[in-house]
Amino acid sequence: MIKEKVELLLNQQVTHELYSAQLYLSMSSWFSEKSLDGFAKWYYVQAYEEKAHAMIIYNYIIQAGGRALLEPIKAPPHEWDSVMDVLEETVKHEEFVTSLIYNIVDVARQEKDYKVDQFFQWFVNEQVEEEDNVNKNKGRYETMGKDGKALYLLDQELGARVYVAPPLLTTMEA
Ligand code: FEO
Repeated sequence: MIKEKVELLLNQQVTHELYSAQLYLSMSSWFSEKSLDGFAKWYYVQAYEEKAHAMIIYNYIIQAGGRALLEPIKAPPHEWDSVMDVLEETVKHEEFVTSLIYNIVDVARQEKDYKVDQFFQWFVNEQVEEEDNVNKNKGRYETMGKDGKALYLLDQELGARVYVAPPLLTTMEA
């Protein structure tokens, strides 16, 4: 059985992940308006990935004999001052998500819920990749963003991203 304190945090994390999807979809829409279709696609795919994270945790709560108590998802911002503003907010948001994941692992260990501790190691590793991706996007825009031709190529490259369901989700839904 899942520990009550841990179950509450997992439920909150479902909401955080769904908010991440909302935030990135809103950013995608902002990029579309600026005709940066590649950036828009990257964020659109990221929104799907965040929904997948939420579903993985939801499925885990159910499998562990808990109850998923869904909460309202706040509205994301709709406007940003610049492309860099979006990229910086994304980096900050992913760092925040990492801190939430670390807290879940900390509390799971305090509560001796070693199943959740182990399960969440996937998310710990996933956050390494998430932070790396968004930091790379920011760094590459810093280098290439002021040159029109380079920006065009960066936008093209980001637009090549395709959604691949995380293996953990496919395993759980198989
Ligand atoms: Fe679900 Fe981007 O972390």
